[in-house]
Amino acid sequence: MGVRWDSALFLVLVLVVSFAEMSNGGRTSTFVRNDDLSLDMPLDSDVFKVPPGYNAPQQVHITQGDYEANSVIVSWVTPDEPGPRTLLYWAENSELKNRADGVVVKYKYFNYTSGYIHHCTIKDLEFDTKYYYDVGTGKATRQFWFITPPKSGPDVPYTFGLIGDLGQTHDSNRTLTHYELNPIKGQTLLFVGDLSYADDYPFHDNVRWDTWGRFIERNAAYQPWIWTAGNHELDFAPQFGEPIPFKPYLHRYHVPYTASGSTSPLWYSIKRASAYIIVMSSYSAFGKYTPQYKWLEQELPKVNRTETPWLIVLMHCPMYNSYAHHYMEGETMRVMYEAWFVEYKVDVVFAGHVHAYERSERVSNIAYNVVNGLCTPIGDQSAPIYITIGDGGNLEGLVTEMTEPQPSYSAFREASFGHGLLDIKNRTRAYFSWHRNQDGYAVEADTVLLINRYWSSLEESKATT
Ligand SMILES: *[C@@H]1O[C@H](CO)[C@@H](O)[C@H](O)[C@H]1NC(C)=O
Ligand SMILES: *[C@@H]1O[C@H](CO)[C@@H](O)[C@H](O)[C@H]1NC(C)=O
Ligand SMILES: *[C@@H]1O[C@H](CO)[C@@H](O)[C@H](O)[C@H]1NC(C)=O
Ligand SMILES: *[C@@H]1O[C@H](CO)[C@@H](O)[C@H](O)[C@H]1NC(C)=O
Ligand SMILES: [Fe+2]
Repeated sequence: MGVRWDSALFLVLVLVVSFAEMSNGGRTSTFVRNDDLSLDMPLDSDVFKVPPGYNAPQQVHITQGDYEANSVIVSWVTPDEPGPRTLLYWAENSELKNRADGVVVKYKYFNYTSGYIHHCTIKDLEFDTKYYYDVGTGKATRQFWFITPPKSGPDVPYTFGLIGDLGQTHDSNRTLTHYELNPIKGQTLLFVGDLSYADDYPFHDNVRWDTWGRFIERNAAYQPWIWTAGNHELDFAPQFGEPIPFKPYLHRYHVPYTASGSTSPLWYSIKRASAYIIVMSSYSAFGKYTPQYKWLEQELPKVNRTETPWLIVLMHCPMYNSYAHHYMEGETMRVMYEAWFVEYKVDVVFAGHVHAYERSERVSNIAYNVVNGLCTPIGDQSAPIYITIGDGGNLEGLVTEMTEPQPSYSAFREASFGHGLLDIKNRTRAYFSWHRNQDGYAVEADTVLLINRYWSSLEESKATT
């Protein structure tokens, strides 16, 4: 008997040990989802409705207009004629209406001609204030509002939403609805690239850029969406005479890149509340000596972690991704920039591109130097957490195929549509949660407590993450 007990115990121990080894690589969710491909919402859908009235402004959206968040860029499209270049705005508690001036641009793409695209910068705004603004004239005037963030400071709470690869399917609409109805209220949306997916249509039918603009207006006219360019923004199609990369995107989505010393709207940075946000371009040159490299080299030492304790990087293509789709696409970017992210203690890097969700451990792979054989990522408490959130819900569907076994850098992965929230509490603590569309609005399918890399001693942060 004794012998059999011993061997049974031994067997149990072996099982426990091997399970522990297998689960070293984190967790792959077993959530069962409906993975039917979702079609784009039809052109006559309620979300694409053209506002009534002659030349009524449509596709209204806002983004931060400068480095310090005292300014907002309001963009909109008028279909019939340019109309006024200006808008009216006023603080909630003020009788005084001000006028802000803007520019109007227009472009052609294959046989498509855009409407009149307005970009109007409202400057010298007060922090932490609600403003109303009117666009358009006469009966077609439309009113919206936004709230400016508090002045940057070490312990300013602020909540960012995270959405990537949104598109315009019924799933996209569900993702946006879940973001809007989540009881944790996102105050600014960090968008990690791939907007409309117009390029999945013949000749990149740019009508789908317009429908996308009308779809997101219900949120993007009231809170800033911080833009990152993805591969679906390239619209590079020399085969039918469109050889200029990013043409529709750059006409439609203006960002305050010059304010951070950038020479291109595809990479830039902003300060907002307690966060410093660096936006990078996966599809622009980023090798040594390139403009993006030179800019980032100057940018990272500039960040003052007392003013903005949270250092966040957005890019489209993830540097750590264990799905089969787009596997290792981000390696070239990782080789160039991972060491800087560790050196400057970036808190979190958000990416899209992979149509699924994944959260990494704090790892780095910077020891590797081609000849030393140390090519496996290792735990590194100075490294960021990498979060892939390319699960907005576009017409290409989810990617479910994963590399097996789950690599040790991957903490959690699940192929479901959803959105994320980064809820910053103070200089040391922030909560990240991921919410899948199939759950109730308040349900968190994955959460992580983030301890600020700059403000917490390494010992303390080892206790959690
Ligand atoms: C553009 O060309 C496509 C393909 O020939 C055609 O289906 C579409 O109707 C054209 N659109 C316009 C605005 O002419
Ligand atoms: C999109 O979502 C909104 C808000 O939930 C809803 O009112 C609308 O009917 C939906 N439209 C489509 C086409 O799914
Ligand atoms: C960083 O910001 C704080 C708070 O605004 C300020 O007191 C400090 O001088 C700044 N540090 C540097 C190096 O500029
Ligand atoms: C930071 O926020 C966390 C979570 O709300 C709280 O537990 C902690 O006491 C706060 N720390 C400071 C220094 O305010
Ligand atoms: Fe992508």
